[in-house]
Amino acid sequence: MRRVLNPALLALVAFMLVSTAACVDERIVYRDRDLTGDIPTGHEGFVGLTSQESNLTVCGNCHVSFQGEWEQTAHADAWATLQNSGHAQAFCENCHTVNQLGNLTEAAGGYATTGDARYHNVQCESCHGPGLAHVQSPGDDNIPLAPLAVGLDMTTGCGECHQGAHHPFVDEWAESGHGTALDYPAGRPECASCHSGEDALVAWGVRADFTEKEAVNQPGQHLAITCAVCHDPHSADNGGQLRFPVDVPNEEQNLCMKCHHKRGTPDMASQNRGPHSPEGPVLLGYGGWWPPNLQFGQTGDTATIAATHGSVANPRLCAGCHVNAYTATDDVTGAQIISTGHLFAATPCTVNGVPVPGDCAPAERTYRTCTDAGCHGSENVARSIEQVAELRIGSLATQLNTMLAQVPATEFNHNDGRYSTAEGARFNYQLAALFPGSTIHNPFLVEALLIASIQQVTNDYGIAPGPGVSLNRQLGQN
Ligand code: HEC
Ligand code: HEC
Ligand code: HEC
Ligand code: HEC
Ligand code: HEC
Ligand code: HEC
Ligand code: HEC
Ligand code: HEC
Repeated sequence: MRRVLNPALLALVAFMLVSTAACVDERIVYRDRDLTGDIPTGHEGFVGLTSQESNLTVCGNCHVSFQGEWEQTAHADAWATLQNSGHAQAFCENCHTVNQLGNLTEAAGGYATTGDARYHNVQCESCHGPGLAHVQSPGDDNIPLAPLAVGLDMTTGCGECHQGAHHPFVDEWAESGHGTALDYPAGRPECASCHSGEDALVAWGVRADFTEKEAVNQPGQHLAITCAVCHDPHSADNGGQLRFPVDVPNEEQNLCMKCHHKRGTPDMASQNRGPHSPEGPVLLGYGGWWPPNLQFGQTGDTATIAATHGSVANPRLCAGCHVNAYTATDDVTGAQIISTGHLFAATPCTVNGVPVPGDCAPAERTYRTCTDAGCHGSENVARSIEQVAELRIGSLATQLNTMLAQVPATEFNHNDGRYSTAEGARFNYQLAALFPGSTIHNPFLVEALLIASIQQVTNDYGIAPGPGVSLNRQLGQN
């Protein structure tokens, strides 16, 4: 039985509204034609498509720019993808259509209750929820907002579909550092732009509304770095629907480096502070404190000691090592396991061949990320290169630390208005010792910084390095 709904007749023709929401300058166009047509009984407020032929969502009649962007995304073809797979079954369908999955609605609706073709594909309402009331009379009281949160119980947001054995995105993400919001101290809003999802969006100029916007203003309610922080829910302009590219070697433009660059070089205003998420500047070759005696190469206007890992040899840069999907075979059960790379671990620990979160010895880690792109001949080669670099950097760091212990305490006075050699050398020691990733991110730079720091401490304080540590570069030349 089909019930004909009163068509959403709207008074104005082509009345346009321009707002500066999200990444697009939104154009909202009012329509005076019937947008919804017949909606089958049991819809629970989901309206779906106006036209299946042109894949025009009911929402897209008015939200013209969003419709244009969404059409370019994989979500817009999800039904065809399922059918073309050759093994579509009934239980596959809810994740490839509009229904209660992905939005705040719990009760079944849309495709789940009607099986109607108007709900094919992952449409606006998959995330925004049922929009009938809004479509009939758009107003402040009925705006269908999408969640930015990702419920760890998988009852809301992207994770309601992007989960499970075939695509465990949310399952892995929840175990990563991005999956939990750091409870930074109250009254430190300057921490928020990297440590909370909602404030990262504000910092990036995305001022859109989402369901939790009011709630997250309260202390202790911050959102983690959720899916829609890194991914643009609407636009496929960047690969993987990312908000910013990952292949641009620029800390202001690269998605990962936009957060991973707080203090890669010393901040003269806070002289006692060590490195803080220094990964971007280290990878790109200009991180650390540069003692006057350090010889350097030049990239444009910037002095750099670049490493292969931050070069065109590794075009996806951070993501090239930290975000790689692959399949593994469980050694015990023989099952094919898919890993999405959303643990964000470059060399994740494995149990029975399957990536797991946490820490472990190198022998228990997979180094596939180093071999899959054809960079290193085998996992064992990569593993042993890493160990050689770690030994070398470790011995230089220990040496420098021993020397710093002999420097008079007055040299570490951060209130004397002077950035001393000792303070700079300590910054470099911390860069090497407290951030094990630095050794992999840029072994050439870190070795050069430590050698130059040791030499500068000798020059300025007359403290000689102990015997047995070579001050010639061993890890490669610039
Ligand atoms: C008939 C035209 C029309 C249709 C169809 C329509 N909208 Fe809207 N929408 C509007 C107008 C007009 C506004 C601004 C309302 C206001 O600010 O009071 C709006 C506002 C919104 C907003 C808030 C934007 C902001 O800047 O805060 C969202 C989100 C939204 N619509 C989503 C949807 C979704 C999802 C659908 C489909 C279910 C949809 N709209 C269908 C006209 C429409
Ligand atoms: C209703 C289920 C559902 C929801 C909700 C959903 N997705 Fe998807 N998503 C899919 C399906 C199915 C595909 C595969 C479509 C295809 O390949 O045709 C997909 C594809 C994608 C892709 C592209 C993958 C590729 O291979 O190009 C990205 C990125 C993505 N989703 C991110 C998100 C994000 C971020 C959210 C939340 C803001 C989200 N999705 C919400 C079901 C969903
Ligand atoms: C729990 C939700 C869910 C179910 C159930 C589901 N899918 Fe998907 N499907 C997705 C998501 C999410 C993606 C996008 C994954 C990605 O980009 O890695 C996807 C992508 C796909 C793709 C694109 C290729 C790929 O693997 O990325 C095909 C084909 C597909 N699904 C077929 C199926 C079939 C066949 C079934 C049933 C046997 C099924 N799906 C059931 C959520 C689901
Ligand atoms: C420019 C972005 C940015 C800002 C601003 C920022 N951080 Fe961070 N912070 C990061 C990133 C990225 C990491 C994780 C990378 C790392 O540990 O190297 C991190 C790591 C941390 C850690 C270690 C977390 C852990 O689990 O090990 C703490 C603690 C921390 N930050 C506190 C703060 C505080 C407090 C503030 C405000 C005074 C702040 N951060 C401001 C980007 C930032
Ligand atoms: C994969 C999930 C997803 C899909 C599909 C999706 N949206 Fe959104 N939408 C969101 C999220 C999350 C936000 C808030 C964050 C942002 O704007 O990037 C949002 C924001 C918006 C806003 C802006 C609200 C504001 O305050 O400016 C509008 C309007 C909107 N969506 C309309 C649409 C329309 C129309 C479609 C379909 C053509 C659509 N969306 C498809 C998840 C989605
Ligand atoms: C810290 C940033 C970040 C977060 C958070 C994040 N992703 Fe991703 N995601 C990436 C990157 C980087 C890629 C690789 C894209 C590329 O290189 O083309 C990716 C890839 C994907 C893909 C495959 C896209 C494709 O083209 O094959 C899907 C689907 C996806 N993510 C979904 C999710 C979901 C769902 C969540 C939340 C549970 C999430 N992501 C959280 C950064 C992120
Ligand atoms: C919005 C800011 C933001 C963006 C964008 C971002 N990160 Fe992070 N990342 C963080 C913060 C904050 C932490 C530390 C979380 C904590 O420990 O509290 C972190 C932690 C990490 C960690 C340590 C992981 C762990 O599980 O402990 C890695 C590795 C990482 N990020 C890599 C990346 C990569 C690769 C990208 C780009 C695809 C990226 N990040 C994008 C903010 C960000
Ligand atoms: C050549 C591969 C590679 C590249 C490129 C790379 N990483 Fe890493 N990263 C690693 C490895 C391997 C570790 C693990 C070090 C350990 O725990 O022994 C690591 C560690 C980390 C950590 C943990 C903190 C630390 O220093 O130990 C963070 C955060 C991180 N990387 C973020 C990033 C970001 C952001 C980028 C891009 C600016 C990036 N990585 C580029 C391989 C890489």
